[in-house]
Amino acid sequence: MARKLVCAAVVSLALQIIGAARVLCPNDPNCVCGGTLAIELNCNIDGRTVKINLLPDTYMNIKCENATSLDYSKMPKCANQMSSFKSVSFKDCPLPTSSFKDVLTNMGVSKTMALIFQNGKKLSGYFDRKHFSGLQDLTKLLLSINGITHLPDNLFTDINKLTWLNIRSNTINLSEELFKPLERLETLEISHNHMTNISSNLFSHLSYLRKLSLWQSNVTWFSKDLFTGVDVLEELDLSSNGLNELPSSIFKPLRKLKKLTLFSNKFSALPRNLFKHNEELETVVILNNDAKLKNLPKFLFGGLMNLKEIYIQKSGLESLPYDVFADSAKVTNISLAYNDIETLPESIFNDQINLLELDLSHNNLNSLEPKIFSSLVRLERLHLNHNKLVKISGATFSSLLSLMYLNMEHNSLKTISSYLFSNNRQKMIISLAHNKLNFESKEQTNYSTSNKTSPFVHTYNLKLLNLSHNEFKFSFEDWWTNGHDNLDISYNHIRYLWPEENLNKSYRDVIKKRLNKLWVAENPLYCQCWNYLFIDFLMEDARTEIYDKSDIGCPLWARRACYSRYKIIMSVIVAVVSFYLLVIIGFLVYRNNLMSPITRIIKEKYFSYMTYWHYKKYLGLMIVHDKQDSGFVYEEFLPALKTYSESPIGKNLVTIPTNKDKIKNKIKRRNKDKSYIVVFSPNYLRAQFSDVSIINILSVMKEAKNTVYVFADIGPDDSIYAFLKEQRDLRNSVVWNEPQLWEKFSKLVDLKKIGHLVEDYKNLKHAFDAKLSDYTETQSVMLPGKDDTFLNEFATDALSGHFFHNGNNGIYYQFK
Ligand SMILES: *[C@@H]1O[C@H](CO)[C@@H](O)[C@H](O)[C@H]1NC(C)=O
Ligand SMILES: *[C@@H]1O[C@H](CO)[C@@H](O)[C@H](O)[C@H]1NC(C)=O
Ligand SMILES: *[C@@H]1O[C@H](CO)[C@@H](O)[C@H](O)[C@H]1NC(C)=O
Ligand SMILES: *[C@@H]1O[C@H](CO)[C@@H](O)[C@H](O)[C@H]1NC(C)=O
Ligand SMILES: *[C@@H]1O[C@H](CO)[C@@H](O)[C@H](O)[C@H]1NC(C)=O
Ligand SMILES: *[C@@H]1O[C@H](CO)[C@@H](O)[C@H](O)[C@H]1NC(C)=O
Ligand SMILES: *[C@@H]1O[C@H](CO)[C@@H](O)[C@H](O)[C@H]1NC(C)=O
Ligand SMILES: *[C@@H]1O[C@H](CO)[C@@H](O)[C@H](O)[C@H]1NC(C)=O
Ligand SMILES: *[C@@H]1O[C@H](CO)[C@@H](O)[C@H](O)[C@H]1NC(C)=O
Repeated sequence: MARKLVCAAVVSLALQIIGAARVLCPNDPNCVCGGTLAIELNCNIDGRTVKINLLPDTYMNIKCENATSLDYSKMPKCANQMSSFKSVSFKDCPLPTSSFKDVLTNMGVSKTMALIFQNGKKLSGYFDRKHFSGLQDLTKLLLSINGITHLPDNLFTDINKLTWLNIRSNTINLSEELFKPLERLETLEISHNHMTNISSNLFSHLSYLRKLSLWQSNVTWFSKDLFTGVDVLEELDLSSNGLNELPSSIFKPLRKLKKLTLFSNKFSALPRNLFKHNEELETVVILNNDAKLKNLPKFLFGGLMNLKEIYIQKSGLESLPYDVFADSAKVTNISLAYNDIETLPESIFNDQINLLELDLSHNNLNSLEPKIFSSLVRLERLHLNHNKLVKISGATFSSLLSLMYLNMEHNSLKTISSYLFSNNRQKMIISLAHNKLNFESKEQTNYSTSNKTSPFVHTYNLKLLNLSHNEFKFSFEDWWTNGHDNLDISYNHIRYLWPEENLNKSYRDVIKKRLNKLWVAENPLYCQCWNYLFIDFLMEDARTEIYDKSDIGCPLWARRACYSRYKIIMSVIVAVVSFYLLVIIGFLVYRNNLMSPITRIIKEKYFSYMTYWHYKKYLGLMIVHDKQDSGFVYEEFLPALKTYSESPIGKNLVTIPTNKDKIKNKIKRRNKDKSYIVVFSPNYLRAQFSDVSIINILSVMKEAKNTVYVFADIGPDDSIYAFLKEQRDLRNSVVWNEPQLWEKFSKLVDLKKIGHLVEDYKNLKHAFDAKLSDYTETQSVMLPGKDDTFLNEFATDALSGHFFHNGNNGIYYQFK
């Protein structure tokens, strides 16, 4: 609705203007009329091109091209009825021979408030009082001219209602009398002039003058009375003059002065008490001083209750007195930028409790006094960039409760010694770009890298934290967790975005609010899933916009692999787990079927050992021989032994076919109560001692306890065997078939034990019966399980009474 109204209004306005143009377009033979929004006339007056551009009742601009002279009487009548304009301007047109009043009347202008006459070329002719006669209503006049050296003293006599006068000319000599008629003048601008010596009374009659600009007028010297009588002046601009000194009382008459501008002068010093009487002073601008100002007088800006803004830039200041701003409590903006200040007194800003902006950038500050900002509780913007600060203590900023913007770029900061901005609740912008920070220094005790916290650990909700162009190698947790909007960590040496280097997704829990924007360019970010996953986490749901993440120098597939790697790992884990589940289930289901073969194997092993042990223990005598010698043992040796000992010896006598390793172990475990008969033949020698030196064999034989070696020449001839037989120890060996073999043998073997040898299971019973009385001590013996018919029989019918039965796995027999 509102839109339609606006459209309608615009259309009707355009129609009116076009209508007006049609109506008003002058019918002049010299001119072509055109234009849409304003009337444009292109006229040719005696071969000179004149362009007129006008909006009725508002403005008329007349531009002459290439006209050194012009017959103004031939100008078109632009307004049908006489009308008044706000302003009329002539550009590059020659001076009229008649008055401007006649020229304007001729063109249909009854009245104008402002007249602008500009000519950049060398103007011929002279201004004269008659030019301005009849323009009583003129309030603004701008003369911007070249080539006129003199303005007559009475020039402005007829335009004494002027409030605004601007004279721009590089060649005019201004006389004392010139401004006398302009009693109502409020604004006077004289610029681009050449007034090396201004006479002291030039402005003395301008008692309404509020604004005076002597911008670029080449004034190099002022009389101290220059402003006498200019009582209400509010703004003074003395810029771009060659001023190198000011009389100390020059501003004394200016009790109302509010703004003083002093660009581009050459002050090497300012006088003391320069502003002592300017109690209304609000703004002082001293910029671009061509000489080195070095210092300011004590209390220069002191005691000025209305002073708000002070700019002293590019003026070569090196130091400032401690009281330069004292007692000026309303100051809101101070800039001392682009000077050569190295230190500032601690109390310099003590009274600036209303300061909003302080710019100390582009100086040589190398340290800041800890309490220098302690009064600035309202400060919003602080510029400390481009200095030489190395260290900053968090306490320096602790009073800046209102700070919104801190710029410390381009310093040499290495150390920030404690927590910054713990008290601040603003959404601050902090830039520490272009420093040497890494937050790893040992001095920095109040935060730690192991702890993954930076000096910003208690600084929350920043609008921007700019840490680009520093020397960070690690990132810090609080950068991500403290709710900042934007973070710039580009141009550092950071390899991992999230401080944890392992694949720990704790950030998901800790990062409540994600950044809006992140700059990471020019970091050697590792091409690792760790970084990708973190970046993807930030970018989830388009929460964080990341600039230059392409910097992670990773091929695309690497990223894909990140995700597939997890898939692979997960699938492997799933596969392994399922396999084990299957095995367990299978085991549970088929347990019984599986058990029997397994237990059988276990039992066999177990029982064979037990059986051996039992017999060994029970029988007390064992015959050790090589397998190949079995024939000899059963057919010759045992029968002979049996015959000799008259004991029940037979084929079931426990004999142990040698099996290299087993025998070695068993011989080692010999029980000293047991006796052994070793059938020592070339076969046995080869099988047992093929890799053993003769000396060792001899020592084994010598050390063997309760053992009788029976040397039997069975098997191939063997020189070592022959040697051993030759060297045998008579105390524990006999030779088969030697004379009186069994006599010798019986001296070596306790034949009582041979009595326990059994020939077969039937004889075992007799053996027990016969020898049971020999056992006085209690012995436990374990015999093989129930499948063994031999022992079952043995247990049940032969030895009941002496034994007890125990469980399924075996029968224990106890001798009493
Ligand atoms: C201006 O006038 C001079 C001679 O009077 C002529 O040479 C020149 O071309 C003119 N320039 C224009 C833009 O009319
Ligand atoms: C301007 O005035 C100064 C001294 O008042 C004089 O020396 C100089 O010649 C004058 N310049 C012109 C162009 O009249
Ligand atoms: C101002 O003075 C300097 C030398 O003092 C001169 O070079 C410059 O042209 C002067 N400017 C004007 C507008 O007269
Ligand atoms: C300026 O004028 C004052 C007096 O009017 C005179 O004393 C002084 O020497 C003059 N300075 C220059 C540079 O002309
Ligand atoms: C003074 O400082 C305030 C706060 O920073 C700022 O808004 C204002 O623009 C400054 N004034 C000027 C003239 O720069
Ligand atoms: C660490 O903080 C404590 C108190 O917060 C302070 O007293 C101490 O000076 C700080 N240490 C450094 C090195 O800034
Ligand atoms: C890390 O340091 C901060 C500040 O002293 C402390 O608040 C925080 O508990 C520390 N964290 C660990 C894990 O030590
Ligand atoms: C951080 O500071 C650097 C250096 O001034 C600048 O180039 C960069 O644009 C800043 N970053 C942001 C996000 O403003
Ligand atoms: C993940 O990191 C947190 C601290 O950031 C730690 O407490 C936790 O033990 C870590 N978890 C693993 C699995 O490493």
